[in-house]
Amino acid sequence: MTPNDAINYEQVFSKIPTVLSTIKNLGNVASYIPELSNVDDTKFGIHLITTQNKSFSYGDAQERFSIQSIAKVLSFTLALKLEGKELWKRVGVEPSGNAFNSLSQLELENGIPRNPFINAGALLICDVLVSHLKNPKEEFILLVRKLVGKDDINYCERIALSEKEHGFRNAAMLNFMKSYGNINNDVDAVLDFYFHLCSIEMNCEELAQSMMYLCSNGINPLNNEEVVSPSRAKRINAVMQLCGFYDEAGEFSFKVGLPGKSGVGGGIVALHPLIYCVAVWSPKLNEKGNSYRGMKILEYFTTQTESSIF
Ligand code: DON
Repeated sequence: MTPNDAINYEQVFSKIPTVLSTIKNLGNVASYIPELSNVDDTKFGIHLITTQNKSFSYGDAQERFSIQSIAKVLSFTLALKLEGKELWKRVGVEPSGNAFNSLSQLELENGIPRNPFINAGALLICDVLVSHLKNPKEEFILLVRKLVGKDDINYCERIALSEKEHGFRNAAMLNFMKSYGNINNDVDAVLDFYFHLCSIEMNCEELAQSMMYLCSNGINPLNNEEVVSPSRAKRINAVMQLCGFYDEAGEFSFKVGLPGKSGVGGGIVALHPLIYCVAVWSPKLNEKGNSYRGMKILEYFTTQTESSIF
């Protein structure tokens, strides 16, 4: 019996409404980017896709939202593919234990970000992509559309602009890394790309589909094309496990036990290599900036299905 056959997804999903009714909708919607606060904070969606291409869904799983930092998994994937192991001269793979937008570690570590998911690391990844790609925004969104299998996945100009108008910390980080010689391109060009990739909108189903290559040894199951090598897919999952939730990565490993990545739009994607990918969306965030109900429901899910990777 394969592990997928061993999991009764239907039964576990059927109990989600009851479980959800016992979880308070605590926390706050992200407001440091004003446009992000224009969201109905009662929304909740979850969608799971198995490697045998079965889908399970509940709630607002078809409604698009701002995926924010979850896009950093895809930009990291592309940068690793284009730059190869040279990338590791400029960014690390260690958990930061700090908030996603923390500046202090960067000075202590001479402008080399701890990992590709904290903002400093994600900005550095954007610099790598701006160096490699002729039209970074166009080429990146084409990759995302291929992974999702839909032509209408887009940046949200409204959110990108709102973030640009308030992105002083990100600008500070980039300038700081540039002062150490770790950024090669024009700061405004890199920032513009970064704000756009954070503004991509998807629903839970699309988000789960976009990361299926990480469940499938680096192969996009929609077209059987290799996105990254099997070894790199494993490494991306390893970085998600240790760094995907910033200073809450330990808690997520402890309670959910899957590699995953969160975004301040309230989305979380998590996956069990070779078995399933699941995306959840609930906009209110806990004090660490991760979806409050999203984490709780994933904890319920891996507990009920006994499907943490540990
Ligand atoms: O850089 C920022 O502030 C955002 N655009 C992305 C933040 C984010 O989603 C962090 N993760 N949870």
